[in-house]
Amino acid sequence: MKPANRTFIISGACSGLGLATARALHAAGASIALLDLNHVAGEAIVSELGKDTARFWEVDVSETESITAAIAGAAAWVKETGRAIGGVVAAAGVGSAAKLVDGRTGEPVGIEALDFVLNINLRGTLDLLRQALPHMIKTTPTADGERGVLILVSSSAAFDGQPGQVAYAASKGAIASLTLPLARDLARYGIRAVTIAPSLFESAMTARLPEKARKSLERVMEFPVRPGKPEEFASLAMQAVENQMLNGTVIRIDGAMRMPSKM
Ligand SMILES: NC(=O)c1ccc[n+]([C@@H]2O[C@H](COP(=O)([O-])OP(=O)(O)OC[C@H]3O[C@@H](n4cnc5c(N)ncnc54)[C@H](O)[C@@H]3O)[C@@H](O)[C@H]2O)c1
Repeated sequence: MKPANRTFIISGACSGLGLATARALHAAGASIALLDLNHVAGEAIVSELGKDTARFWEVDVSETESITAAIAGAAAWVKETGRAIGGVVAAAGVGSAAKLVDGRTGEPVGIEALDFVLNINLRGTLDLLRQALPHMIKTTPTADGERGVLILVSSSAAFDGQPGQVAYAASKGAIASLTLPLARDLARYGIRAVTIAPSLFESAMTARLPEKARKSLERVMEFPVRPGKPEEFASLAMQAVENQMLNGTVIRIDGAMRMPSKM
């Protein structure tokens, strides 16, 4: 799908991988509906991109009603601009380390710590797609039968999760494994689903990584020996938008790095 003159809905659009993808799609002529918790960044990004082609909605993807309000707002905006929804990039996500049982006290982790990660990374992604899709299936398809593309964000943790990543790996593994059935369900509408699984990329999330965890990853990098740049993620996301043969698949972008067991 050519992104020009389409609207893309992006969650987690105010930082890191979501923001780089928003900028790349915008540079290719798309309008961007930015959905994020961070309204200060959201307003600054709308000023940067211009309010004719960028709008911000304050959304917590773990709260259904806040997604509903944003999708309704985006749908009304699309009606004004005539730029049909071309896709959703579900990049909102959080990582938080916890083992199911505390190694010192033997106490179980609080269920709210597991809910926090699963509700944002998994439930929040499904809820956003669930609410955006009814609008997408009503759009007029392109000459080659396409109505749009969903881009989901998994992680290396889906395949080689590190100690303390049980909940995060569960959420990202679920994103990876739902990609094919999602693509199969949506094929009849000409809507594709592509999941990108990054390793360590520069972002606000990874800036908060403990030194020990960062060092454990730097030790096992193959080539290139550096974290990925958000623009490199965005360039793959652009391929996923533009290349119709990418569908129902999970693409690792990781410089051959495999996360180690020992920190
Ligand atoms: N950076 C990496 O190394 C890396 C690696 C693998 C996967 N990922 C995944 O990529 C995605 C983007 O991460 P990033 O590295 O750009 O992080 P980031 O922290 O830079 O950006 C995440 C954005 O999501 C927003 N967000 C967080 N919780 C939200 C919520 N409940 N509702 C709405 N918005 C919310 C934040 O405000 C932020 O703007 C996440 O799903 C993350 O798990 C990142």
